[in-house]
Amino acid sequence: MAYRIHVFFLISVSFFLVSCFSQTYYLNDTEGQVFDGIGGLSGGGATTRLLVNYAEPYRSQILDYLFKPNFGASLHILKVEIGGDAQTTDGTEPSHMHYEDDENYFRGYEWWLMKEAKKRNPNITLIGLPWAFPAWVGRGKQWPYEFPDITATYVVKWILGAKQFHHLNIDYVGIWNERTFDSKYIKLLRYNLDKSGLESVRIIANDNLWEPISQSLLLDPELSNAVDVIGAHYPGTTTVMEALKTRKTLWSSEDYSTFNDDVGGGCWARILNQNYVNGFMTATICWNLVASYYEALPFGRDGLMTAAQPWSGNYVVESPIWMTAHTSQFTKPGWTYLKTVGHLANGGSYVALTDGKGNLTVIIETMTHNHSLCIRPPLPPYSVTSQNATFQLEGPFSSIKELQVWGSRFNFRTAKPTLFQRQSPLKLKKGKFTISLSEDEVYTVTTLTTGQKGKHPDPPASSPFPKHYTDDFNVREAAFSEAPNFADQTGVFEYYTNQTDSGLHTFTLRQVLTERPITWAADADQTISVIGDYTWHDLNVECDVFMERVKTGGVFIAARVDKGGQTIRSARGVFFWVFADGTYKVTNDLAGQSVLAEGPSGTRAGAWHTLSLSVNGQLASGKLNGYTLWTSAVVLTPKNGWVAIGTRSFELAQFDNFAVKAGGQESLLSKPYVTIV
Ligand SMILES: *[C@@H]1O[C@H](CO)[C@@H](O)[C@H](O)[C@H]1NC(C)=O
Ligand SMILES: *[C@@H]1O[C@H](CO)[C@@H](O)[C@H](O)[C@H]1NC(C)=O
Ligand SMILES: *[C@@H]1O[C@H](CO)[C@@H](O)[C@H](O)[C@H]1NC(C)=O
Ligand SMILES: *[C@@H]1O[C@H](CO)[C@@H](O)[C@H](O)[C@H]1NC(C)=O
Ligand SMILES: *[C@@H]1O[C@H](CO)[C@@H](O)[C@H](O)[C@H]1NC(C)=O
Ligand SMILES: *[C@@H]1O[C@H](CO)[C@@H](O)[C@H](O)[C@H]1NC(C)=O
Repeated sequence: MAYRIHVFFLISVSFFLVSCFSQTYYLNDTEGQVFDGIGGLSGGGATTRLLVNYAEPYRSQILDYLFKPNFGASLHILKVEIGGDAQTTDGTEPSHMHYEDDENYFRGYEWWLMKEAKKRNPNITLIGLPWAFPAWVGRGKQWPYEFPDITATYVVKWILGAKQFHHLNIDYVGIWNERTFDSKYIKLLRYNLDKSGLESVRIIANDNLWEPISQSLLLDPELSNAVDVIGAHYPGTTTVMEALKTRKTLWSSEDYSTFNDDVGGGCWARILNQNYVNGFMTATICWNLVASYYEALPFGRDGLMTAAQPWSGNYVVESPIWMTAHTSQFTKPGWTYLKTVGHLANGGSYVALTDGKGNLTVIIETMTHNHSLCIRPPLPPYSVTSQNATFQLEGPFSSIKELQVWGSRFNFRTAKPTLFQRQSPLKLKKGKFTISLSEDEVYTVTTLTTGQKGKHPDPPASSPFPKHYTDDFNVREAAFSEAPNFADQTGVFEYYTNQTDSGLHTFTLRQVLTERPITWAADADQTISVIGDYTWHDLNVECDVFMERVKTGGVFIAARVDKGGQTIRSARGVFFWVFADGTYKVTNDLAGQSVLAEGPSGTRAGAWHTLSLSVNGQLASGKLNGYTLWTSAVVLTPKNGWVAIGTRSFELAQFDNFAVKAGGQESLLSKPYVTIV
């Protein structure tokens, strides 16, 4: 019902041919910059973690809303993290080379995601960018440029692996996300790409600010030859003179990072237009592609849409999807912006693009100051008032007789927005049309008739993480290396199969990092993977553990873990540790400083032990191999949080038969216990 009212409202007020009070904007076919597309970023980090474990058909439906042409966001660009084993905002992503002698192009989910994107849009542009690097790349230094040839070889291997194992052609590669660049490294990377037959792979530098890269390109012609695109992050729609002087292609290679409600949608609509109008940026990439990570992690729901419930199948197609569609469905990389773009007299902006074959797409937005809640506030004037705008098409466009119209309107007073609605076509007289604009609207006016507001049946209802959850790590989806719902916050936890000489297999989850990576954020000194519902407080968690490091090894299970992402170092909760030296400890923190209990346990490396932890109200207790080891530890805070597993340091260790039962006190498993040896 509400839907119909809104459609009527839009059509009734929007268009008429003659106007008394109207500013005129002239559009002719003088071309500006080539348009490179709109993209989404998976990574930086682990932002697509939960998507992979959605059941079909929901997983494919989500991918359709993101990538399928003329359906939803219809993205032109997919940018992914080149996993570096370290925390990169909402988790870690695994490297293709954990160790120097290790190469594996089937870890994580970015390969799978790129293939799913290509399936839907074979022309989608692919970009890879590292945030972090495995320890060996720096030979012990927290610095990827100490041995630039090693780093370049490592990155080139990822691109070659994409081709060899997944038939994916990577179009662009970056340097080091939001960190300093090194001219020698960039030149070496170019050299290595060319030497490896990857001349067509272009370099973006350096996914940070406009400077100092622009100045460096102006001063160093060899560097300038190596770099194709200047990629700036969160440019606030503007650029700098030096960047323009380089005559390089300018991109907003990471942008948005805003909660994806209607304010976020409006923010994105303005960014998409004004990044070109104010800053001559020809591509804009959204961080992040899809909010598929636990919402209580940093920057919860900062994606084009939300898909963070694989257990229910529920997902939400948020407004940024439709704001993207306003541009993406009616343009393609290779179209050109016209020179005639700009601001509207009473606030807002317009851009116009052409395919050079007579097609014209105009996108108009009138976002208000309310969208200053975006991560980067807009340029003044913030205020937008109702206005009539007349567009006069000139040159070859003057013969256009009819234009298709798609409209959106946010209405903060009635809460319910109208998103991407097709309206009656506009009939033009002498190449002229007038459009009546209110605040917080977006219109696409285009010669293309191909737009579509794609729709799948509604997904299942939202539901909380299951209270009873088990994983013995035996049932695995072949495409993925990680167990469902575990979100690694430091370290990398992978499926592991121990194939013994006697032909016996054991299937476990194994923490595989043995050294601290070249980090991007402040990773913990311990490894930790969280799972479950952040609101959980009273629960039992149980897991079999196997330490591989003799004498100094240590592992834990935990409850009420209150932090993840870049603040993981200071995570608190109830941590039950056992060590290979035959002791145990209970701490209130991941760092292991705040000790609640400790004593002998008889635990050792090379044997399986079963740990169980119960937390109820302010009291916690722990069992080892079915026998109570400690009781009545007092836990005042945190009051709630995730469940977790992890290790004392960067060390090999395994986990099996994980089980959690929230909201109860019963013993979990009825399997026979391993006895302490
Ligand atoms: C991909 O690009 C080619 C060449 O420009 C074009 O013919 C084809 O229609 C495009 N495919 C899609 C799905 O856009
Ligand atoms: C087209 O528009 C541009 C930008 O406003 C202007 O500089 C140019 O003179 C116009 N060309 C014609 C033929 O009107
Ligand atoms: C516009 O684009 C469509 C679809 O790509 C194409 O068929 C048509 O020739 C183009 N030109 C005009 C003037 O419509
Ligand atoms: C727009 O034009 C209509 C019709 O001429 C007029 O009634 C209205 O007041 C105008 N609106 C503004 C903001 O000028
Ligand atoms: C804009 O946001 C402010 C603060 O959130 C709110 O008070 C105001 O009503 C909003 N404006 C409109 C037009 O809804
Ligand atoms: C593999 O299994 C064998 C036999 O149970 C055991 O001795 C060995 O420690 C296991 N290795 C690892 C890495 O789990």
